[in-house]
Amino acid sequence: MPATIIVGAQWGDEGKGKATDLLADTTDLVVRYQGGNNAGHTVIVGDQVFKLHLIPSGILYPNVLPVIADGVVIDPKVMLEELDGLQARGLDPFARVRVSGNAHLIMPYHRELDLLIERRLGKNNLGTTKRGIGPAYADKASRVGLRFQDLFDEKIFRQKLEAALEHKNEQLARIYNRLPMDVEEIAREYLGYAERLRPLLTDTTDLIHTSLEAGKHIILEGAQGTLLDLDHGTYPFVTSSNPVAGGALTGAGIGPRHVDRVIGITKAYVTRVGAGPFPTELFDEVGERMTDVGGEYGTTTGRRRRVGWFDGVLARYANRVNGFTDLFLTKLDVLGEFETLKVATGYRYDGQVYEHFPPHQSIFHHAEPVFEELPGWGSDISAVTEYDDLPRAARDYIDVLEEQAGAPITWVSVGPQRSQTLVRRDVPLVPASG
Ligand code: IMP
Repeated sequence: MPATIIVGAQWGDEGKGKATDLLADTTDLVVRYQGGNNAGHTVIVGDQVFKLHLIPSGILYPNVLPVIADGVVIDPKVMLEELDGLQARGLDPFARVRVSGNAHLIMPYHRELDLLIERRLGKNNLGTTKRGIGPAYADKASRVGLRFQDLFDEKIFRQKLEAALEHKNEQLARIYNRLPMDVEEIAREYLGYAERLRPLLTDTTDLIHTSLEAGKHIILEGAQGTLLDLDHGTYPFVTSSNPVAGGALTGAGIGPRHVDRVIGITKAYVTRVGAGPFPTELFDEVGERMTDVGGEYGTTTGRRRRVGWFDGVLARYANRVNGFTDLFLTKLDVLGEFETLKVATGYRYDGQVYEHFPPHQSIFHHAEPVFEELPGWGSDISAVTEYDDLPRAARDYIDVLEEQAGAPITWVSVGPQRSQTLVRRDVPLVPASG
């Protein structure tokens, strides 16, 4: 049975956890393919709220195996805390979570460097989550990273750590005027985690392919979003991995023929955390209300998210680089607050109108949105259970979003609960023939 990719269509925080939740009943594996504990997934199951950073949301469903694949970066301390937290709530994460030995480790110097680099950038900082993500991926690309499998071979772990620290300590001391880090201290801490983490170490490539061969269904769950992609996002205001659908293939180690569905998750408006251009950003009281009504505060850092109107240019771009088969529209209920809604259909720059994502960063930085105005519905739709029962204006708004994005909107979410999901196109989640 083929795999389904779930990917954020915007700057992250689109509600991917909810989409995975909806699909979890019909799947066997939920695989995280990139990112680390910079992510934050809030999943509500019944009356319980789970905030997950690294562990795939599949952990919440007894029928699902949660997998952390090669493309992820792992902070073992944070992972253990999350595993312990889940265990305390009655789940059995140590018996179920599977982790690739090829996933890279976030080391204490990565966290330290993330802080120092941001501080040094001053007002030009990126607003990272300060979890060491960028420095960890940089070491992976420079081929001096330590991997999850190294935790279980003390000799190799020490060798690699010594080699890495020699360089890092020089950097810390000479560039940042910081005290050097101690090999022994880090080795003791990290090797101390190994015993508890050993049951998680798995040949995930084999697990994923054996599952596919056995006709099982897999969800590849992205973190962050398309516009935070290192290659296709709003560089340099991006994360250091590839959330896009293509990144799911490299991160999990599967080929395109295994995937038959790419579900893009998009909010009915746009949010972004951290620095960087945002053409439809709102700075007025409409924006304030959107932030407050939408509860737009980061799951990981608690930072207030920037908010803006739905951006058709970005939606079209996300559809191009991911090839969505479906869109899952979230947080439509939040817009019930507003009398008039706006949707950007293009950008204006230097006398020219851009319908597609501009090829040069300066155009994007100075892009002025061309807005289409639509009437709001001005009512609370969070109790609506059938798509056809939505107010006319809400359905018209969704039609415009679909036309702008160029991909079919299959589901519409009107609240955080699973029951607050409306089916707009009745298409099977997984092919019946599988
Ligand atoms: P980093 O991933 O911590 O290096 O941060 C780089 C940029 O990505 C910053 O603007 C962060 O705010 C943003 N970012 C990272 N993870 C997330 C996420 O899960 N949701 C939203 N933004 C994120």
